[in-house]
Amino acid sequence: MNKLTLLGGITPQRFLREYWHKKPLLIRQAIPGFKPLLTREQLAELATHDDVESRLISHFGAHWEMRHGPIAELPPYGKNGWTMLVQGVNLHHDAADALMQQFRFIPDARLDDLMISYATDTGGVGPHFDSYDVFLLQAFGERRWRVSAQKDLSLIEGMPLKILKNFHAEQEFVLEPGDMLYLPPHYAHDGVAVGECMTYSVGFRAPSYQEIGESFLQFMADSIELPGRYADPDLSSGRHPAEISSAMLERVASEIARIRFTKDDIAIFLGEYLSEPKPNVFFAAPAKSLSLKRFAEASIRQGVSLSRKTRMLYRGKYVFINGESFTVKREDKSSLAALANDRRLEGKLVGGVSGDVLEALHTWYEDGWLQLGQK
Ligand code: SIN
Ligand code: CO
Repeated sequence: MNKLTLLGGITPQRFLREYWHKKPLLIRQAIPGFKPLLTREQLAELATHDDVESRLISHFGAHWEMRHGPIAELPPYGKNGWTMLVQGVNLHHDAADALMQQFRFIPDARLDDLMISYATDTGGVGPHFDSYDVFLLQAFGERRWRVSAQKDLSLIEGMPLKILKNFHAEQEFVLEPGDMLYLPPHYAHDGVAVGECMTYSVGFRAPSYQEIGESFLQFMADSIELPGRYADPDLSSGRHPAEISSAMLERVASEIARIRFTKDDIAIFLGEYLSEPKPNVFFAAPAKSLSLKRFAEASIRQGVSLSRKTRMLYRGKYVFINGESFTVKREDKSSLAALANDRRLEGKLVGGVSGDVLEALHTWYEDGWLQLGQK
């Protein structure tokens, strides 16, 4: 793989080997001459929508306050010490989506979203740690980052947000537009705006095993089959009517022990789980959708591309899109893999897919999961 300016002139392999999950990396001019993709007004407008996750955090004096969006009204831009954070900007904005795509040297299954923060002078979210890796790209103005590998991650109790009780900065950097800081999970940090500033965070998803386990059991609940019904032709009357008998316990235990799952079940679960859009994501269907026949002609002419909001993954013969799974025929595997990897499919390749896949593409188009054209 090539050396990337984005990673300060090292290859993704070297970044993953030496820094990922291990230590911070400061990259001066990761994106030389970077200009913010949205103005503060455009960001504030996004934060008014109820399908956009946002927060407003202020520390006026020593007092921390946090409010969840939608944010109807902001403090005055002339007032110091507040910050607005908007999650998932890549879902709503083409250039933000294109910026996220630059981080696809990390697999899609691990990439989460692009968060944009706007802060007035001295604004920030306080010294804290995150459970995920993060790339912090300075987009506008300057931010002073202080970071620490400290093991003491205890938090001040009773705060509206996570604030470290004992933060001891070990390193300090002032980031300017185009500079980027990578931080591993659980690395203590505090970013304070030096004048008005905007920071873009590329975040990752790392569900807890508890969360994965609970979701897997829900998935299995929909797919297990245990025929028959409890019966006890050999029932004998005991002396204690309220006691569950050993015979009953044994019989139920042996039925439950019949529940099996395979690697394939896990693969299907994982693909559906990881491709599931967040609950506040809504797709826009085309204003006037084409019939299957017209769609087929148009898509062979123009190709198709995935919506910014679509999550598409695959594994072996399984393809996952927005929480649904499909088993694909051998002849369709490479075109669907191309659609997932490139997020678009040339017309020539659309022309080669089976009738089933063409119908699926048409349904996805009708649902707003993909659109005609190459984007
Ligand atoms: C910010 O952009 O203000 C906060 C990002 C972070 O510290 O995780
Ligand atoms: Co953080």
